[in-house]
Amino acid sequence: MTRHLLITGGAGFIAGNLVHHWAATHPQDRLVVLDALTYAGNLATIGPLIDAGRVQFVHGDIGDASLVTEVLQAQAISHVAHLAAESHVDRSISGPGAFLRTNVGGTFTLLEAFRVHWLAKGSPEHWRFLHVSTDEVFGSLEPQDPPFSESTAYSPRSPYAASKAASDHLARAWQHTYGLPVLVSNCSNNYGPYHFPEKLIPLTLINILLGRPIPVYGDGSNVRDWLYVHDHCRALERVLLAGEPGSTYCIGGNNEVANLDLVSLLCDLMEELAPDLPVRPCRELIRFVADRPGHDRRYAIDASHIRRTLGWEPQVTVQEGLRRTVQWYLANRGWWEPLLSPEYSGYLEAQYGASLGA
Ligand code: NAD
Ligand code: DAU
Repeated sequence: MTRHLLITGGAGFIAGNLVHHWAATHPQDRLVVLDALTYAGNLATIGPLIDAGRVQFVHGDIGDASLVTEVLQAQAISHVAHLAAESHVDRSISGPGAFLRTNVGGTFTLLEAFRVHWLAKGSPEHWRFLHVSTDEVFGSLEPQDPPFSESTAYSPRSPYAASKAASDHLARAWQHTYGLPVLVSNCSNNYGPYHFPEKLIPLTLINILLGRPIPVYGDGSNVRDWLYVHDHCRALERVLLAGEPGSTYCIGGNNEVANLDLVSLLCDLMEELAPDLPVRPCRELIRFVADRPGHDRRYAIDASHIRRTLGWEPQVTVQEGLRRTVQWYLANRGWWEPLLSPEYSGYLEAQYGASLGA
């Protein structure tokens, strides 16, 4: 059966990787991307697929109800993978409004438009709406706490996490009240190709290549559970194709690493793989800077539910995934160099002060 799949946010990091994954693994499906091309959206990520006619690209906002309705109808969309969002915690602290508009308002608009479209077509049982969310909705763990799972109570602590939590509640309400075939996933930190360099891993790699300081918040002891983005895409594929509507799936890498250890690993890999680094040893670039307000201490995911029910587990170890990621950034300067715009420098200056030498 041919699916007509709408991927929102497809010019961004995870959804861009998902577009590539889906185009390669489901050549019979129609792929449509809706993306507003905010600072985080980059058409270069999926440009070759658009040029080849493999992906239909629609430039627009998920909060634009008439546009969303038109796309759903004109493209006869049967499946939605909803990833469009404002995604950076630091930006949510300095400017929360866009997070509420897109993550809450935009998700509402999309759910409601899809519901009307689904009803108009006789409520087809095989249609699906996958709402992609984050482990940050669960709050923060202490070192000895068990990992988050599907039964963990919500306790969001940043404007970003609160906006994602609200959108998760909307998605589940539309399933429970209207019977819309909605699935929700909550994933840990992703890394890999096409990651915008405001996030820790690509920021560190690019700063090492440019000989700029690497900012580490607080004492660098905060812990994240890292998952290679291709493994996340495989999980999303399983959930969309075989998940039970109304269910939630926690997705994680089982790879807890403290930030300072992660940055040190990246320094080692860069020294091994990159010729002509401006500063060696790279660790000399590390700077401990003011902590993120409300900084969550630790995230970790228990992914046993998706392993048991859908047979998914990560295939890429963090050592292998980081190596691939470093190699990708070394081989794809043409993707990230244009991102170092005056707007990006202005963001670094506002976020880190003069300490980064942007
Ligand atoms: P990203 O910031 O890299 O990309 C977001 C994309 O959404 C961009 O292309 C942007 O242009 C687009 N967008 C933003 N506002 C929009 C709007 N109003 N209308 C249409 N498009 C809009 O994000 P990401 O890191 O790839 O995250 C994707 C999704 O996965 C988000 O929902 C995020 O909460 C979730 N998530 C991310 C991670 C992670 O580690 N990055 C982990 C778990 C879950
Ligand atoms: O857990 C999933 C979440 O992971 C996603 O929902 C978010 O969209 C995604 O951005 C990510 O959030 P984090 O805040 O964990 O990612 P970030 O890369 O911003 O930060 C990772 C850790 O590194 C975190 O503890 C803060 C720290 N950090 C971050 C930056 C940008 C630094 O020490 N220095 C930095 O300059």
